[in-house]
Amino acid sequence: MSAPILQVSQLTKRFGSLVALNNVSLEIREGEIFSIIGPNGAGKTTLFFNIVGLQKPDAGRVLFRGADITGKPPHKICDLGITCTFQVPRAFANMTVEEAVRVGAYQRYRGREVQRKVDEVLQICELEEYRHQRCCDMGLAPLRRVELARALATEPVLLLLDEAGAGLNPSELAGFMEILRRLNEEKRITLCIVEHVMQMVMGLAQRIVVLDYGEVIAEGTPQEISTNPRVIEAYLGKGAVC
Ligand SMILES: Nc1ncnc2c1ncn2[C@@H]1O[C@H](COP(=O)(O)OP(=O)(O)O)[C@@H](O)[C@H]1O
Ligand SMILES: [Mg+2]
Repeated sequence: MSAPILQVSQLTKRFGSLVALNNVSLEIREGEIFSIIGPNGAGKTTLFFNIVGLQKPDAGRVLFRGADITGKPPHKICDLGITCTFQVPRAFANMTVEEAVRVGAYQRYRGREVQRKVDEVLQICELEEYRHQRCCDMGLAPLRRVELARALATEPVLLLLDEAGAGLNPSELAGFMEILRRLNEEKRITLCIVEHVMQMVMGLAQRIVVLDYGEVIAEGTPQEISTNPRVIEAYLGKGAVC
């Protein structure tokens, strides 16, 4: 079993009286594809935001390769190699695809290295033909790949994907999953996917954690999770196709 890349320990986040994360602990290992699932409002996005420094937790710790990164600013966490994609593709509407990806690359590179990185991730994400197209003119599937490319351009070792497969049709989804598989196998990027699309979760993840009302209610392999009565009750529903 590989060493942990990220350890979340007893993390709590409140918004006023609402407890969005309640004592959440989980561990992601180097090189794996990990998934977090759960109903809307379970706290998945909040967990990502508290890992990457966009929000500060009220209690608990986040360790990256053993070092405490709790509450560090987002650019510092990005420099360490943790990046997340955003659920709603961000406001790059008036930028071209290349410009949007360049924003990511500037996080880590300068000078000629920026364009080298942009070209590399455009190729990986199969976006070369869209290079000069404005983001607002693009369909959902290539736009999801732009968001992935922007994140990849920051050179993450741990990539957190927030509902990146939402709204894709089966063939678009298969293509997107293939890109993620390659990133994991060839680039050795550890992936954590938050997803409602069960085909993607069950097809990619080695281990899954289930959140419900801000609490971890189950953890296991896809097989264990898809047959866990508590998960079926809270989320998958009876007769869910996994
Ligand atoms: N910035 C915020 N202010 C107040 N409440 C929030 C905020 N962000 C999220 N919440 C609430 O926290 C809970 C968890 O939200 P979220 O993390 O977005 O869930 P998920 O991503 O699992 O759908 C929800 O009840 C949501 O309404
Ligand atoms: Mg969310």
